[in-house]
Amino acid sequence: MKKAIIGGSGLYYPDMLAKVRDLEVETRFGKVQMLVGEHKGEEIVFIPRHGRDHRFPPHLINYRANMLALKKLGVELVLATGAVGSLNRNMVPGDCVVPHQFIDFTKSRPMTFFEGGPGGVVHMDFTEPYCPEIRKAILETGRAVGVTTHDGGVYVCTEGPRFETPAEIRMYATLGGDLVGMTGVPEVVLARELGICYGTVTMVTNFAAGISPQTLTHQEVLDVLEQNNDKLREIILKVLVSLPSTRACACAQGAPDLSGLL
Ligand code: HPA
Repeated sequence: MKKAIIGGSGLYYPDMLAKVRDLEVETRFGKVQMLVGEHKGEEIVFIPRHGRDHRFPPHLINYRANMLALKKLGVELVLATGAVGSLNRNMVPGDCVVPHQFIDFTKSRPMTFFEGGPGGVVHMDFTEPYCPEIRKAILETGRAVGVTTHDGGVYVCTEGPRFETPAEIRMYATLGGDLVGMTGVPEVVLARELGICYGTVTMVTNFAAGISPQTLTHQEVLDVLEQNNDKLREIILKVLVSLPSTRACACAQGAPDLSGLL
């Protein structure tokens, strides 16, 4: 099974892989610059979500091109990383959380491959948005490497690129949110539309606005990621190795006809 990593903030180059080379893939949504490396004899594709130099803000990432490029390469499993703010006092900076649900508060992003054109009109089930097999592997691996790893969390995706107001954070918490981030949606949605297994390991970098005693900065987010860099990379590699080579989940079931898209 071909696997890919989508690296979020702080993870721009797959130095944990061997024999890394550049690769460019053309899609109907544009070109994607990615990297391919090896780990234990397995080829692994890597996309830095924000670009190698953190060029793309969350709302301008070409999510559709990224996911379609992976599909074109035959990728069946994506392990993504993402920095998050915490709304939940039990989830503290430096912890990993393996979300099980999301709430979408994005505003301007193309959300689907199915816009009535070449792909037709499709309504997918999102009862279980994240691959249960990947979730289980992240949870076991995170705990095995000694990182506090929470089983489940409701990820609220905001449009960004600004951080939230305390009033927004209070609202998200009232609605059941545990985490807030800017990039998890529509990536998870597009993966499912393509029948790709998708799981995400989120790292809490800060308490969200109004919960944190201080104002928020992107530097603070990067600093916490930097401090936990080695652990995060270790978790990613171990998760990829530990995942079974055949799929026991239902992520690819009910995948729509993609012949018009690829
Ligand atoms: N809000 C949104 N996205 C984030 C945050 C936050 O507080 N921290 C890291 N990514």
